[in-house]
Amino acid sequence: MSKQPMILDHPLVQHKISLLRSKRTGTKEFRDLVGEIATLMCYEATRDLPTEEVEIETPIAIARTRMLSGRKLAFVPILRAGLGMVDGMLTLVPAAKVGHIGLYRNEKTLEPVEYYCKLPEDIGERDVIVLDPMLATGGSACDAITLIKKRGARSIKFLCLIAAPEGVARLQETHPDVEIYIAAMDEKLNENGYIVPGLGDAGDRIFGTK
Ligand code: PRP
Ligand code: URA
Repeated sequence: MSKQPMILDHPLVQHKISLLRSKRTGTKEFRDLVGEIATLMCYEATRDLPTEEVEIETPIAIARTRMLSGRKLAFVPILRAGLGMVDGMLTLVPAAKVGHIGLYRNEKTLEPVEYYCKLPEDIGERDVIVLDPMLATGGSACDAITLIKKRGARSIKFLCLIAAPEGVARLQETHPDVEIYIAAMDEKLNENGYIVPGLGDAGDRIFGTK
């Protein structure tokens, strides 16, 4: 049984997602917003990281307090658009390793085509967070996660900014063990596989290619 996706209804996230959707938002502002939303989502997606008690000497006394312990993180953006989320994630977890998976959707079949995969060697020992702003049909997310599992990863979360119900259903069915974090859940896909109302083509808007 898959868990229900976590939808981030924080007012700051919702405000920034609205700005992101606007066709009047230009490339620089769009890129900045993607990074800021990724940082806010990172805060939520790391809520269950294990901590251990430590003793810290303050200028006044010994404080018994908590610090992160145990497994380390790896972030894996799906190229291209996932790249826009990496710096925002690293703002909160600068020691995370970063892998890359290159996939693009064949515009006719809408199926993902793999063109690059470079993951940290010790990915099996890390908690992995896969990054992609858009979960549309779910094909790219499912294939990326299959590749990451083949390299030995067992603990995987998926973070996206906007999702379509079709993509969430496919991801839950293919990888029921993967927790999904979404900033906004949209209505549907159109006949070209774009999310409605969505924000258009995330890669083109981040990199200014159209
Ligand atoms: C977009 C997006 C996802 C994919 C989502 O990438 O960033 O990776 O589409 O669609 P899906 O859920 O139907 O697979 P795109 O293929 O446009 O490549 P790009 O990031 O290089 O622009
Ligand atoms: N990829 C995008 O960038 N946008 C969509 O709406 C669907 C897939």
